[in-house]
Amino acid sequence: MDTLVERDRPMSFIHLPKSWQLPESRITPEAAYWNRRKFIKGMVGMGIGASAVSFASCQRPNAMDPELRETLGQPLHSFTANPDFSDAGRAITEEQYATSYNNFYEFGGTKNIWAEAQNLPTDPWTLAVGGLVNNPQKYDLDDLTKRFPLEERVYRFRCVEAWAMVVPWLGFPMKALMDDVEPTSNARYVSFTSFYDPEITTGPSWGLGRDLPWPYVEALTIEEMANELAFFAVGLYGRTLPKQNGAPIRMVVPWKYGFKGGKSIVKIEFTSEQPATYWNTISPNEYGFEANVNPDVPHPRWSQKSEKIVGTNTNPFDWERQETIIYNGYGDYVADLYA
Ligand code: MTE
Repeated sequence: MDTLVERDRPMSFIHLPKSWQLPESRITPEAAYWNRRKFIKGMVGMGIGASAVSFASCQRPNAMDPELRETLGQPLHSFTANPDFSDAGRAITEEQYATSYNNFYEFGGTKNIWAEAQNLPTDPWTLAVGGLVNNPQKYDLDDLTKRFPLEERVYRFRCVEAWAMVVPWLGFPMKALMDDVEPTSNARYVSFTSFYDPEITTGPSWGLGRDLPWPYVEALTIEEMANELAFFAVGLYGRTLPKQNGAPIRMVVPWKYGFKGGKSIVKIEFTSEQPATYWNTISPNEYGFEANVNPDVPHPRWSQKSEKIVGTNTNPFDWERQETIIYNGYGDYVADLYA
Protein backbone atom coordinates (compact mmCIF):
# COMPACT_ATOMS: atom_id res chain seq x y z
CA MET A 1 0.00 0.00 0.00
CA ASP A 2 2.99 2.32 0.39
CA THR A 3 3.39 2.60 -3.36
CA LEU A 4 -0.23 3.69 -3.60
CA VAL A 5 0.34 6.51 -1.19
CA GLU A 6 3.39 7.68 -3.14
CA ARG A 7 1.66 7.58 -6.50
CA ASP A 8 -1.59 9.10 -5.45
CA ARG A 9 -1.94 12.85 -5.53
CA PRO A 10 -2.80 14.56 -2.25
CA MET A 11 -6.51 15.18 -1.80
CA SER A 12 -6.07 18.92 -1.95
CA PHE A 13 -7.62 21.45 -4.27
CA ILE A 14 -4.30 22.49 -5.85
CA HIS A 15 -4.94 24.05 -9.26
CA LEU A 16 -3.21 22.16 -12.06
CA PRO A 17 -3.40 23.46 -15.62
CA LYS A 18 -5.31 21.01 -17.81
CA SER A 19 -4.34 20.05 -21.34
CA TRP A 20 -7.30 21.96 -22.76
CA GLN A 21 -5.84 25.18 -21.34
CA LEU A 22 -4.04 25.76 -24.62
CA PRO A 23 -4.66 28.89 -26.69
CA GLU A 24 -8.35 28.38 -27.39
CA SER A 25 -7.91 29.13 -31.08
CA ARG A 26 -5.91 25.88 -31.35
CA ILE A 27 -8.54 23.62 -29.92
CA THR A 28 -11.95 25.25 -30.04
CA PRO A 29 -14.16 26.32 -32.92
CA GLU A 30 -15.35 29.89 -32.60
CA ALA A 31 -18.91 29.09 -31.53
CA ALA A 32 -17.71 26.87 -28.70
CA TYR A 33 -15.25 29.57 -27.64
CA TRP A 34 -18.05 32.08 -27.21
CA ASN A 35 -20.19 29.54 -25.34
CA ARG A 36 -17.29 29.01 -23.01
CA ARG A 37 -16.80 32.73 -22.38
CA LYS A 38 -20.49 33.03 -21.52
CA PHE A 39 -20.13 30.08 -19.17
CA ILE A 40 -17.13 31.54 -17.34
CA LYS A 41 -18.83 34.93 -17.05
CA GLY A 42 -21.82 33.20 -15.44
CA MET A 43 -19.54 31.42 -13.00
CA VAL A 44 -17.72 34.57 -11.90
CA GLY A 45 -21.00 36.31 -11.23
CA MET A 46 -22.06 33.46 -8.97
CA GLY A 47 -18.89 33.29 -6.87
CA ILE A 48 -18.26 29.64 -7.56
CA GLY A 49 -16.12 27.83 -5.02
CA ALA A 50 -17.27 29.88 -2.08
CA SER A 51 -20.16 27.64 -1.18
CA ALA A 52 -22.36 24.83 -2.35
CA VAL A 53 -23.62 26.13 -5.67
CA SER A 54 -25.16 23.82 -8.20
CA PHE A 55 -23.96 24.22 -11.75
CA ALA A 56 -27.44 23.31 -12.79
CA SER A 57 -28.25 26.96 -12.27
CA CYS A 58 -25.80 27.87 -15.07
CA GLN A 59 -28.00 26.10 -17.56
CA ARG A 60 -29.75 28.02 -20.26
CA PRO A 61 -33.49 27.69 -19.83
CA ASN A 62 -34.62 24.75 -21.91
CA ALA A 63 -37.82 23.04 -22.77
CA MET A 64 -37.36 19.76 -20.97
CA ASP A 65 -39.99 17.13 -21.68
CA PRO A 66 -42.22 17.14 -18.54
CA GLU A 67 -42.07 13.32 -18.41
CA LEU A 68 -38.28 13.44 -18.51
CA ARG A 69 -38.34 16.05 -15.73
CA GLU A 70 -40.31 13.55 -13.61
CA THR A 71 -37.33 11.17 -13.76
CA LEU A 72 -34.86 13.64 -12.21
CA GLY A 73 -33.62 12.88 -8.70
CA GLN A 74 -34.06 14.60 -5.34
CA PRO A 75 -32.15 17.85 -4.61
CA LEU A 76 -28.88 17.33 -2.73
CA HIS A 77 -27.97 20.22 -0.45
CA SER A 78 -24.85 19.28 1.50
CA PHE A 79 -21.97 19.49 -0.92
CA THR A 80 -19.09 21.75 -1.83
CA ALA A 81 -18.10 22.73 -5.35
CA ASN A 82 -14.53 21.53 -5.89
CA PRO A 83 -12.80 24.59 -7.42
CA ASP A 84 -10.14 22.45 -9.07
CA PHE A 85 -12.83 20.83 -11.21
CA SER A 86 -15.16 23.71 -11.85
CA ASP A 87 -14.13 24.54 -15.44
CA ALA A 88 -13.92 21.76 -17.99
CA GLY A 89 -12.98 24.18 -20.76
CA ARG A 90 -16.34 23.79 -22.47
CA ALA A 91 -19.90 24.72 -21.61
CA ILE A 92 -21.75 22.28 -19.39
CA THR A 93 -24.08 20.08 -21.40
CA GLU A 94 -27.73 20.94 -20.97
CA GLU A 95 -29.32 18.66 -18.41
CA GLN A 96 -32.00 17.48 -20.80
CA TYR A 97 -29.32 15.95 -23.05
CA ALA A 98 -27.31 14.34 -20.25
CA THR A 99 -30.46 12.72 -18.89
CA SER A 100 -32.04 11.57 -22.15
CA TYR A 101 -29.12 10.66 -24.45
CA ASN A 102 -27.81 7.60 -22.61
CA ASN A 103 -26.17 4.23 -22.90
CA PHE A 104 -27.62 1.65 -20.50
CA TYR A 105 -27.76 -1.61 -22.41
CA GLU A 106 -29.57 -3.41 -19.62
CA PHE A 107 -32.61 -1.34 -20.71
CA GLY A 108 -32.15 -1.31 -24.48
CA GLY A 109 -29.70 -0.82 -27.30
CA THR A 110 -30.58 2.76 -28.27
CA LYS A 111 -29.78 6.13 -26.67
CA ASN A 112 -33.46 6.57 -25.84
CA ILE A 113 -33.79 4.34 -22.77
CA TRP A 114 -34.69 6.87 -20.09
CA ALA A 115 -38.33 5.76 -19.83
CA GLU A 116 -37.41 2.05 -19.82
CA ALA A 117 -34.76 2.64 -17.13
CA GLN A 118 -37.47 3.76 -14.70
CA ASN A 119 -38.00 0.02 -14.05
CA LEU A 120 -34.70 -0.07 -12.14
CA PRO A 121 -35.52 -0.67 -8.44
CA THR A 122 -33.23 1.59 -6.38
CA ASP A 123 -34.77 1.62 -2.90
CA PRO A 124 -33.66 -0.32 -0.92
CA TRP A 125 -30.11 -0.63 -2.29
CA THR A 126 -27.05 -2.42 -0.99
CA LEU A 127 -23.55 -1.87 -2.25
CA ALA A 128 -21.37 -4.72 -0.96
CA VAL A 129 -17.61 -4.14 -0.91
CA GLY A 130 -15.32 -7.08 -0.27
CA GLY A 131 -12.61 -9.33 -1.61
CA LEU A 132 -9.03 -8.54 -0.59
CA VAL A 133 -9.88 -5.96 2.09
CA ASN A 134 -9.47 -5.80 5.86
CA ASN A 135 -12.79 -4.11 6.44
CA PRO A 136 -15.58 -5.37 4.15
CA GLN A 137 -18.64 -3.11 4.06
CA LYS A 138 -22.27 -3.05 3.08
CA TYR A 139 -23.49 0.45 2.31
CA ASP A 140 -27.21 1.18 2.15
CA LEU A 141 -28.93 3.91 0.16
CA ASP A 142 -28.57 6.48 2.94
CA ASP A 143 -24.85 5.75 3.33
CA LEU A 144 -24.23 6.60 -0.32
CA THR A 145 -25.11 10.28 0.15
CA LYS A 146 -24.22 10.70 3.85
CA ARG A 147 -21.19 8.59 4.70
CA PHE A 148 -18.61 10.47 2.61
CA PRO A 149 -18.42 14.26 2.15
CA LEU A 150 -20.06 15.14 -1.16
CA GLU A 151 -18.53 17.48 -3.71
CA GLU A 152 -19.43 18.71 -7.16
CA ARG A 153 -16.96 18.13 -9.99
CA VAL A 154 -17.46 19.29 -13.55
CA TYR A 155 -15.81 16.69 -15.76
CA ARG A 156 -15.46 16.09 -19.45
CA PHE A 157 -17.14 12.86 -20.46
CA ARG A 158 -16.09 11.03 -23.64
CA CYS A 159 -17.87 7.98 -25.03
CA VAL A 160 -15.93 5.49 -27.15
CA GLU A 161 -18.60 6.19 -29.80
CA ALA A 162 -16.95 9.62 -30.31
CA TRP A 163 -19.51 11.85 -28.63
CA ALA A 164 -18.75 13.99 -25.61
CA MET A 165 -20.49 15.96 -22.87
CA VAL A 166 -19.52 18.02 -19.84
CA VAL A 167 -21.35 16.90 -16.70
CA PRO A 168 -21.51 18.44 -13.19
CA TRP A 169 -21.33 15.27 -11.08
CA LEU A 170 -21.99 15.07 -7.34
CA GLY A 171 -20.25 12.39 -5.34
CA PHE A 172 -17.02 11.51 -3.60
CA PRO A 173 -13.54 10.34 -4.59
CA MET A 174 -13.20 6.56 -4.97
CA LYS A 175 -10.18 6.84 -2.67
CA ALA A 176 -12.49 7.71 0.25
CA LEU A 177 -14.30 4.37 -0.08
CA MET A 178 -11.00 2.57 -0.58
CA ASP A 179 -9.67 4.00 2.68
CA ASP A 180 -12.85 2.83 4.42
CA VAL A 181 -12.43 -0.82 3.38
CA GLU A 182 -8.60 -0.98 3.59
CA PRO A 183 -7.45 -3.17 0.68
CA THR A 184 -4.78 -5.72 1.62
CA SER A 185 -1.33 -5.63 0.01
CA ASN A 186 -2.41 -8.45 -2.38
CA ALA A 187 -5.14 -6.34 -4.00
CA ARG A 188 -4.11 -5.24 -7.52
CA TYR A 189 -7.46 -4.80 -9.33
CA VAL A 190 -10.97 -3.76 -8.44
CA SER A 191 -14.16 -4.94 -10.16
CA PHE A 192 -17.46 -3.06 -10.15
CA THR A 193 -20.65 -5.01 -10.85
CA SER A 194 -23.88 -3.36 -12.00
CA PHE A 195 -27.41 -4.31 -10.96
CA TYR A 196 -28.74 -7.24 -12.96
CA ASP A 197 -32.05 -9.07 -12.83
CA PRO A 198 -33.07 -10.77 -16.08
CA GLU A 199 -36.74 -10.11 -15.27
CA ILE A 200 -36.06 -6.35 -15.18
CA THR A 201 -32.91 -5.69 -17.19
CA THR A 202 -33.96 -7.44 -20.35
CA GLY A 203 -31.10 -6.11 -22.49
CA PRO A 204 -30.98 -4.77 -26.04
CA SER A 205 -33.19 -6.32 -28.73
CA TRP A 206 -30.05 -7.13 -30.76
CA GLY A 207 -28.87 -9.17 -27.79
CA LEU A 208 -31.94 -11.40 -27.62
CA GLY A 209 -30.87 -15.00 -27.93
CA ARG A 210 -27.21 -14.00 -27.66
CA ASP A 211 -25.21 -15.12 -24.72
CA LEU A 212 -24.17 -11.66 -23.49
CA PRO A 213 -21.86 -11.69 -20.45
CA TRP A 214 -24.23 -10.11 -17.91
CA PRO A 215 -23.99 -8.61 -15.39
CA TYR A 216 -22.18 -5.51 -16.66
CA VAL A 217 -18.79 -5.54 -14.91
CA GLU A 218 -16.07 -2.94 -15.18
CA ALA A 219 -12.67 -2.90 -13.50
CA LEU A 220 -9.71 -0.67 -12.72
CA THR A 221 -6.24 -1.25 -11.37
CA ILE A 222 -5.92 -0.32 -7.75
CA GLU A 223 -3.66 2.60 -8.70
CA GLU A 224 -6.34 3.92 -11.08
CA MET A 225 -8.98 3.68 -8.36
CA ALA A 226 -6.72 5.59 -5.95
CA ASN A 227 -6.14 8.40 -8.47
CA GLU A 228 -7.53 11.79 -7.48
CA LEU A 229 -9.83 11.89 -10.53
CA ALA A 230 -11.58 8.55 -9.95
CA PHE A 231 -15.02 9.38 -8.60
CA PHE A 232 -18.25 7.77 -7.47
CA ALA A 233 -21.20 9.85 -8.62
CA VAL A 234 -24.41 9.77 -6.60
CA GLY A 235 -25.87 12.79 -8.36
CA LEU A 236 -25.70 15.27 -11.20
CA TYR A 237 -26.93 18.84 -11.77
CA GLY A 238 -27.56 19.27 -8.03
CA ARG A 239 -29.80 16.24 -7.59
CA THR A 240 -29.46 12.51 -6.93
CA LEU A 241 -28.79 10.45 -10.06
CA PRO A 242 -31.71 9.70 -12.34
CA LYS A 243 -32.12 5.99 -12.99
CA GLN A 244 -31.07 6.37 -16.63
CA ASN A 245 -27.70 7.78 -15.48
CA GLY A 246 -26.97 4.90 -13.12
CA ALA A 247 -28.77 5.57 -9.85
CA PRO A 248 -27.99 5.36 -7.03
CA ILE A 249 -24.21 5.15 -7.56
CA ARG A 250 -21.98 4.92 -10.63
CA MET A 251 -18.31 5.16 -11.57
CA VAL A 252 -16.85 8.26 -13.23
CA VAL A 253 -13.32 7.94 -14.64
CA PRO A 254 -13.04 10.93 -16.98
CA TRP A 255 -9.74 10.05 -18.65
CA LYS A 256 -11.21 6.78 -19.93
CA TYR A 257 -13.94 6.05 -22.45
CA GLY A 258 -17.42 6.18 -20.95
CA PHE A 259 -17.97 2.41 -21.01
CA LYS A 260 -15.43 2.11 -18.17
CA GLY A 261 -17.91 3.97 -15.94
CA GLY A 262 -20.26 1.22 -14.76
CA LYS A 263 -23.72 2.32 -13.61
CA SER A 264 -25.93 1.25 -10.69
CA ILE A 265 -23.15 -0.55 -8.83
CA VAL A 266 -24.16 -3.30 -6.38
CA LYS A 267 -20.80 -4.98 -5.77
CA ILE A 268 -17.16 -3.92 -5.57
CA GLU A 269 -14.48 -6.56 -5.22
CA PHE A 270 -10.73 -6.18 -4.69
CA THR A 271 -8.80 -8.96 -6.46
CA SER A 272 -5.25 -10.06 -7.26
CA GLU A 273 -6.06 -11.03 -10.90
CA GLN A 274 -7.43 -8.82 -13.68
CA PRO A 275 -11.23 -9.33 -13.74
CA ALA A 276 -13.14 -10.10 -16.94
CA THR A 277 -15.14 -7.04 -18.02
CA TYR A 278 -18.30 -6.74 -20.09
CA TRP A 279 -17.30 -5.05 -23.38
CA ASN A 280 -13.79 -6.44 -23.30
CA THR A 281 -15.28 -9.95 -23.15
CA ILE A 282 -17.69 -9.23 -26.03
CA SER A 283 -15.09 -7.64 -28.34
CA PRO A 284 -11.54 -7.37 -26.96
CA ASN A 285 -10.04 -5.77 -30.07
CA GLU A 286 -12.61 -2.94 -29.96
CA TYR A 287 -12.82 -2.35 -26.20
CA GLY A 288 -9.52 -2.69 -24.40
CA PHE A 289 -9.26 -3.19 -20.66
CA GLU A 290 -7.40 0.11 -20.18
CA ALA A 291 -9.55 2.16 -22.61
CA ASN A 292 -7.87 5.52 -22.01
CA VAL A 293 -9.09 8.29 -24.32
CA ASN A 294 -6.52 8.50 -27.11
CA PRO A 295 -6.93 10.28 -30.46
CA ASP A 296 -4.09 8.21 -31.96
CA VAL A 297 -5.66 4.80 -31.36
CA PRO A 298 -8.65 4.45 -33.70
CA HIS A 299 -11.53 2.18 -32.89
CA PRO A 300 -11.39 -0.57 -35.55
CA ARG A 301 -14.58 0.89 -37.08
CA TRP A 302 -14.06 4.66 -36.68
CA SER A 303 -11.48 7.34 -35.93
CA GLN A 304 -11.05 8.75 -32.44
CA LYS A 305 -9.37 11.95 -33.69
CA SER A 306 -12.41 14.11 -33.00
CA GLU A 307 -15.63 14.03 -31.00
CA LYS A 308 -19.15 15.40 -31.39
CA ILE A 309 -20.22 17.73 -28.60
CA VAL A 310 -23.70 16.61 -27.58
CA GLY A 311 -26.39 19.28 -27.57
CA THR A 312 -24.49 22.01 -29.42
CA ASN A 313 -27.30 22.19 -31.96
CA THR A 314 -30.93 21.10 -31.87
CA ASN A 315 -30.15 18.88 -34.86
CA PRO A 316 -27.76 16.09 -33.75
CA PHE A 317 -26.33 15.94 -37.28
CA ASP A 318 -25.05 19.48 -36.71
CA TRP A 319 -23.42 18.92 -33.32
CA GLU A 320 -20.00 20.59 -33.30
CA ARG A 321 -16.89 18.53 -33.68
CA GLN A 322 -13.77 19.17 -31.64
CA GLU A 323 -10.41 17.47 -31.48
CA THR A 324 -10.00 14.62 -29.02
CA ILE A 325 -7.32 15.23 -26.40
CA ILE A 326 -5.15 12.44 -25.00
CA TYR A 327 -6.53 11.22 -21.65
CA ASN A 328 -9.52 13.46 -22.41
CA GLY A 329 -7.37 16.40 -21.23
CA TYR A 330 -6.51 14.90 -17.83
CA GLY A 331 -2.93 13.83 -18.59
CA ASP A 332 -1.49 15.90 -15.74
CA TYR A 333 -3.35 13.68 -13.30
CA VAL A 334 -2.98 10.26 -14.89
CA ALA A 335 -0.18 10.04 -17.48
CA ASP A 336 2.28 8.81 -14.85
CA LEU A 337 0.05 5.77 -14.23
CA TYR A 338 0.96 4.53 -17.70
CA ALA A 339 4.61 5.63 -17.95
N1 MTE B 1 -23.08 0.81 -17.21
C1 MTE B 1 -23.97 -0.18 -17.35
N2 MTE B 1 -24.28 -0.92 -16.27
N3 MTE B 1 -24.54 -0.49 -18.54
C2 MTE B 1 -24.21 0.22 -19.68
O1 MTE B 1 -24.74 -0.09 -20.76
N4 MTE B 1 -22.89 2.00 -20.66
C3 MTE B 1 -21.60 2.68 -20.56
C4 MTE B 1 -21.47 3.45 -19.24
N5 MTE B 1 -21.89 2.61 -18.14
C5 MTE B 1 -23.28 1.27 -19.58
C6 MTE B 1 -22.75 1.58 -18.31
C7 MTE B 1 -21.36 3.59 -21.68
S1 MTE B 1 -20.99 2.86 -23.17
C8 MTE B 1 -21.40 4.94 -21.53
S2 MTE B 1 -20.92 5.98 -22.78
C9 MTE B 1 -21.87 5.55 -20.28
O2 MTE B 1 -22.28 4.60 -19.32
C10 MTE B 1 -23.05 6.46 -20.58
O3 MTE B 1 -23.41 7.18 -19.43
P1 MTE B 1 -24.65 8.20 -19.51
O4 MTE B 1 -25.81 7.46 -20.06
O5 MTE B 1 -24.87 8.70 -18.13
O6 MTE B 1 -24.20 9.30 -20.45
